[in-house]
Parts: sequence; structure tokens; C-alpha cells
Amino acid sequence: SKYTIVDKETCIACGACGACAPQIFTYDDEGLSYVSIDENAGISVIPDKLVDDLLDAYEGCPTNSIKISEMAFNGDPLKFG
Ligand code: F3S
Repeated sequence: SKYTIVDKETCIACGACGACAPQIFTYDDEGLSYVSIDENAGISVIPDKLVDDLLDAYEGCPTNSIKISEMAFNGDPLKFG
């Protein structure tokens, strides 16, 4: 299983992730990305059919702000380093 979360401290609102994975990422009123599925808590398993999109977004983020783990983040993007 994969979980994901955006580090909004480093996101520069480039908009690439939502283009790659519109069913996972959306933007707040400043254009910063967050995971729409769980309000960026990193606690929801990403459905298998969306994992390819997730990996595309992960690889495309210019600031490495998208975090992915096999375990839940519980709201902390830096939980696993
Ligand atoms: Fe931000 Fe990276 Fe997405 S900079 S808008 S999390 S591609």
C-alpha cells in the first residue's frame, strides 16, 4: 500500500502534480498542493489504479515536496525523513 502527503513548506505551487494526478492532488487558494483524498493527512491508502499517476507526480515535482511511504504519515510530511 502507498500513502502520500505534500510538504507545503517546500511546495512552490508549480502545478505539475495536479496535472499528473488530478484525482490525488489539488490546490489551496495560494496554489499550494495538498492530497485531496485525506486533506493532506497522509493516512489514506492510494487506490492501486492511481499509483502510476502518483509516481509520475512524485518524479515530476521540482522541489521533492511529494512524499510517498508504505506507512501512514499521520499528518507529518517529514515523518520518514
Ligand atoms: Fe508543489 Fe511539487 Fe506539486 S512544487 S504544486 S507539490 S509538483
